[in-house]
Amino acid sequence: MSPSHKLDTALITGASTGIGATYAQRLAQRGHDLVLVARDQARLQSLAEQLMRECGVNIAVLAADLTAQPERALVEQRLREDDNIGLLINNAGMAGTGPIVAQQLERFESMIQLNVITPTRLTSAILPRLLARGHGGIINIASVVALAPELFDGTYNASKSYLLNYTLTLHKEVAGRGIQVQAVLPGITRTEIWERSGIDANTLPAHMIMEVDEMVDAALAGYDMGELVTIPSLPDVEDWNRYTVARQRLAPNLSRDHAADRYKSDISEDA
Ligand SMILES: NC(=O)c1ccc[n+]([C@@H]2O[C@H](COP(=O)([O-])OP(=O)(O)OC[C@H]3O[C@@H](n4cnc5c(N)ncnc54)[C@H](OP(=O)(O)O)[C@@H]3O)[C@@H](O)[C@H]2O)c1
Repeated sequence: MSPSHKLDTALITGASTGIGATYAQRLAQRGHDLVLVARDQARLQSLAEQLMRECGVNIAVLAADLTAQPERALVEQRLREDDNIGLLINNAGMAGTGPIVAQQLERFESMIQLNVITPTRLTSAILPRLLARGHGGIINIASVVALAPELFDGTYNASKSYLLNYTLTLHKEVAGRGIQVQAVLPGITRTEIWERSGIDANTLPAHMIMEVDEMVDAALAGYDMGELVTIPSLPDVEDWNRYTVARQRLAPNLSRDHAADRYKSDISEDA
């Protein structure tokens, strides 16, 4: 983070444990005041007290179920009105909804509320203020499954693809207006999300699991480097750059006035 923005307050969703709690710790160590959001008030309070004691920063706790609109609305209001908040970390998320064919519709809907609607609404809440002041940051915690749907369950993958695409589009829209945007694409990270999803992380290949401290430190290093997309475990950033170039190479041909030749039947060609 650049020195002039160093003391912005950061609002972190899903801060009671895992990746969000680790962001809270790292940002408090950097001197940021914080607003911590999740459902478990006691856990948030205990983390807040520990970090205030250790780091000497101010931390507010906002307990809210972000799948419930009335509770989420209080967080939106805070983002709209609290001029100290200059950094939003859209981290709260859930997985474990099972495959698309299992038709767990209520869980799908909760997940879309949390993983898709919430970051969209919270970003909309803070954005006018950030644009008006001309600086700030928005970090969206997506996932590598946004690029590799083969790795995990369908609805979760789709929610993370949304967040990646949303971040890329937001970046394009706010370019040159002082707002830093980043999508973080973690691979498997050792947190409670696995047990919450009914999966024992110890059954996953050890060489694919990153410890949460290492993941968040890499993501923050990527933010400090000004990266739009950070994939903490990717050894060669040129792989991502080549992927982006290949995608952009499609652009001139994605919308044209005629269908491609392979879709034209012999009959229509003869007519
Ligand atoms: N761990 C991984 O392998 C991995 C990989 C790629 C991406 N990610 C993404 O990283 C983000 C953080 O995941 P994590 O691994 O740290 O998960 P986690 O350990 O399960 O923590 C999730 C956080 O979200 C909060 N949360 C869950 N449901 C909520 C709700 N309805 N309203 C408000 N807060 C809620 C939880 O707190 P409460 O229970 O107190 O509400 C908790 O603080 C997620 O978006 C996840 O998709 C994780």
